[in-house]
Amino acid sequence: MTASLPRAAAFAGDEVGRHDTLNSNSASHSTAPADDSFLPGPVLLLGAPGVGKGTQAQLLVAKYGIPQISTGDLLRGNIARGTPLGLQAQEIMSSGRLVDDDLVNQMVLHRLHEKDTRRGYILDGYPRTIDQANFLDATLANLALAPNLPVVAISIVVAYDQLLKRITGRRICPICKSIYNIYSHPPATPGRCDLESAHLNQRPDDTEEVFTQRMKTFNDQTAPVVAHYRGLGRFREVNGDQPVEAVIAEIEDALLCLRTGSC
Ligand code: AP5
Repeated sequence: MTASLPRAAAFAGDEVGRHDTLNSNSASHSTAPADDSFLPGPVLLLGAPGVGKGTQAQLLVAKYGIPQISTGDLLRGNIARGTPLGLQAQEIMSSGRLVDDDLVNQMVLHRLHEKDTRRGYILDGYPRTIDQANFLDATLANLALAPNLPVVAISIVVAYDQLLKRITGRRICPICKSIYNIYSHPPATPGRCDLESAHLNQRPDDTEEVFTQRMKTFNDQTAPVVAHYRGLGRFREVNGDQPVEAVIAEIEDALLCLRTGSC
């Protein structure tokens, strides 16, 4: 429905991602393979709203120096700039439903052609439907985008009752995109970013009502994507219901295992 948008207007320069900063709350971790010698390649971070995809992606960015490509952040960037894509996405996102597959696919394809993806990248929140997964699989197979490694998928799992608290307690720095939580990772000064001192924001879709719809959308449309990658192999499930540093340690072990066969 929205595929007729002018591509340049819809996709150019639209990343306001969380890729260049590390949450000051993030713990250090030491189980990863050597940074320079290990090529993470394309990594999918899958999971329900609030499992910690963004939090973990920021740590992987800092560890491996590869970009985080968050479709949620890309879409929010379009909303902030008032692009045609943003105008269409705003209402859909605030209702907890998914933006049109074709639009999201083209947005990701455009981003994957940027130079910083050559050592690998972390796709956060994509693919989210079977159509998106099929598009990504075909794109990576046919376009031979660098790095020419098969995609690996990490699914983060957290119990439902934890997720609501994570979502409603989340606060984000509008400048550096650091992610906080008023319950589990509060800033040093309430309401202010530790790094920027900026007033922290709450996402408009982080209400209980919209969360309920986002979970329904996840179960209906994204759970089959998790099953798809589980079936293809090159897949690991990680327990996200533990401290941040324990989750990243599991993810790094899973990446090492999936890339080197050392498991
Ligand atoms: P998106 O922005 O992708 O949201 P989401 O998938 O719902 O995920 P979240 O960002 O809410 O959570 P997260 O897993 O990143 O958790 P975080 O690390 O922040 O998508 C938003 C919307 O955009 C969608 O609803 C849809 O409309 C649209 N959209 C996006 N992609 C699309 C696509 N591919 N196709 C179509 N539409 C698309 O952590 C959450 C909180 O928990 C934080 O406060 C954090 O501090 C805390 N926390 C994290 N880890 C831990 C831990 N281990 N212990 C305790 N607290 C923790």
